[in-house]
Amino acid sequence: MTPRILVLPGSNRTGSFNAALAAAAAVELAQQGADVTRISLVDYPLPILDENLKNETGIPENALKLGHLIAAHDGVFLCCPEYNSSIPPLLKNMIDWVSLITRDGDKVFKPWAGRYVALGSASNGKLGGIRGLYHVRSVMVNVGTQVISEQCAVSGAADAFEADGRLKDERANTMLVNTCKSLIRHCSMMSNG
Ligand SMILES: Cc1cc2nc3c(=O)[nH]c(=O)nc-3n(C[C@H](O)[C@H](O)[C@H](O)COP(=O)(O)O)c2cc1C
Repeated sequence: MTPRILVLPGSNRTGSFNAALAAAAAVELAQQGADVTRISLVDYPLPILDENLKNETGIPENALKLGHLIAAHDGVFLCCPEYNSSIPPLLKNMIDWVSLITRDGDKVFKPWAGRYVALGSASNGKLGGIRGLYHVRSVMVNVGTQVISEQCAVSGAADAFEADGRLKDERANTMLVNTCKSLIRHCSMMSNG
């Protein structure tokens, strides 16, 4: 079966480098044969997680929508900005809200459980945001996903993309191609049982 992969950037910034990387990843995944859905968290605003809020009003509708979207895919490609060497709050907040989902009606429902996850990052700095991925990886393992080894960090991101969205640098592009290849391979094993 064709692997279904959800691509999402952890930034809502206009002109986001990670949104550009997500777009490049979506094109590459589709070229390699995946069925790709690319979304933006702009369309799923969430309040800052607060357990009082969760106890009073439950899990927000947008977190439930994201949970169902994640569960409808075999894999997720996350493009993660690095904030102070770590995970940005927009992404962490979304991951945390979705991690609180445990049921859909009377059925057990854990959207992150068993999903394959690939990580990418883009930053204008020399390290391309790679230090943040160490933290993102740890969080994603904690919520029950299988994070693949390959990852893609794009440095000098302000000048890293061609006008058509492709990565200019051969090394960065090879990292992206290999990360997509590995994610698809893992998701295909899952689709085929
Ligand atoms: C609070 C904060 C902390 C940041 N820390 C880092 C950092 O540790 N390393 C880095 O490479 N860039 C850092 N940056 C710069 C981001 O990489 C930059 O804002 C980038 O454009 C964010 O990704 P985006 O373009 O996808 O929005 C930081 C930015 C902010 C707002």
